[in-house]
Amino acid sequence: MKPRYLSLLLLAACSQPAPSEFRPDASIQELMASVVDPAADALWEAVSSETTAQGVVEHQPRTDAEWLAVRHHAVTLAEAANLLLIEGRKVSHTNQLEDAHVAGILTAAEVQKKIDADRQLFAERAHDLQLAAREALAAIDARHPQRLLVAGEKIDAACERCHITYWYPNAEQPKWPAPLKQAAATP
Ligand code: HEC
Repeated sequence: MKPRYLSLLLLAACSQPAPSEFRPDASIQELMASVVDPAADALWEAVSSETTAQGVVEHQPRTDAEWLAVRHHAVTLAEAANLLLIEGRKVSHTNQLEDAHVAGILTAAEVQKKIDADRQLFAERAHDLQLAAREALAAIDARHPQRLLVAGEKIDAACERCHITYWYPNAEQPKWPAPLKQAAATP
């Protein structure tokens, strides 16, 4: 074989994607319930206020151990974004999504189709989550409760942005500003 053809062949062999070493096990749904949601909840609760019989209690991490515990959740959330992106991970093993009875919720097969149709967009949504989680991490390392609160809002927005694209794109959005305006206009 002429060397020219040989190098072409080699090139073709090199451009084949290597078989993945990942073995996705949990579904996206399971990752949401077991990893993403608990980690986010812990971050949101870390800086929050609670109304009790004794009055409003303000929560925030104070001791080294408390800050470290919150940090673990921020690390978990940032890396969970990568877990979501592993090729071959199924949306659901049960095909029974939460809130399936609510109008506008897609089926697991529809969510799967939407993700597979544009992996790049799904990756962008996951990266949004990672960016927000990293902000939480920076706030924690600076021991800055207020910044952690702001990062928490960004995390919430990142969850919502992905869910509205893949989970409930047809769900009715709350329309409260409109009736308020109408009420103001009514004599
Ligand atoms: C990159 C996309 C993406 C991001 C970011 C994301 N989710 Fe999800 N999530 C999904 C998809 C898709 C579903 C619907 C299918 C399913 O249930 O897995 C879902 C479903 C869920 C469910 C329902 C699980 C069930 O039992 O059916 C919960 C709870 C959830 N997400 C929480 C969160 C929280 C909290 C965040 C942010 C901290 C978040 N998700 C961020 C894609 C995302």
